Amino acid sequence: MRTPFIAGNWKMNVTDKEALAFVDAVKDRIPSSEEVESAVCAQALSLKGMQEKAGNTDLRIGAQNMHEEDHGAFTGEISAQALTSIGIDLVIIGHSERREMFNETDERVNRKLHAALAHGIMPIVCIGENVDDRDAGRATGVVREQLEQALQGVEAEQVKGCVFAYEPVWAIGTGKSSHPEEAGEMARTIRAYVHEAYGQSAAEAVRIQYGGSVKPENIGDYMADNDIDGALVGGASIKVDSFLALLEAAQ
Ligand code: G3P
Repeated sequence: MRTPFIAGNWKMNVTDKEALAFVDAVKDRIPSSEEVESAVCAQALSLKGMQEKAGNTDLRIGAQNMHEEDHGAFTGEISAQALTSIGIDLVIIGHSERREMFNETDERVNRKLHAALAHGIMPIVCIGENVDDRDAGRATGVVREQLEQALQGVEAEQVKGCVFAYEPVWAIGTGKSSHPEEAGEMARTIRAYVHEAYGQSAAEAVRIQYGGSVKPENIGDYMADNDIDGALVGGASIKVDSFLALLEAAQ
């Protein structure tokens, strides 16, 4: 049995003051991580304060990105070591916004994934097709290719600790969520790939989230699919009540 995992991705939409107030407001209302695992991924400057406030609660605090090198002349970047030094052990890798706006290639995603795993940071690896790929009937091929590239050189035992977020680009922030059946089919494609490449126990262990216009009203439709283990949520994860409603619906 896989534990459901709901993660918020706040992107660049929450100030430090708001982030700290959010943690204060939710920290005593977080369900046990045995029921549902919960996380929020915030801007880097808020991570330390949030982590301190979250303390021993079951709310995980995660980063939205990290660099693949341990250190060096990479102005403005954040290393895995810097994250783990403040207790952060969760990171989003390869979000479509980074792929599209910051030229993050599959090869880079792969290097970041290796760095995260080497430092014991749980990666949420984002994959998903854009609207042209979907219209041209290439969605499955694109997702498989992204997965294959991201996982180059990764061992079966490491894959078990990875989370994959299927986020069709056309569904992000648009209110046009993917049909739950289609999202479920893509989750099966992802699991089938892991099965082919790494065997049954890895395929059964990996958690697959759906992301793209998820909200409290529709999360149940996705979670009803046996192959969807949670959600990566943007807009609807920012408000306290909405985030708690997502967690409630996922249990
Ligand atoms: O990473 C989550 C995200 O890309 C989905 O955003 O606002 O459509 O839930 P949103």
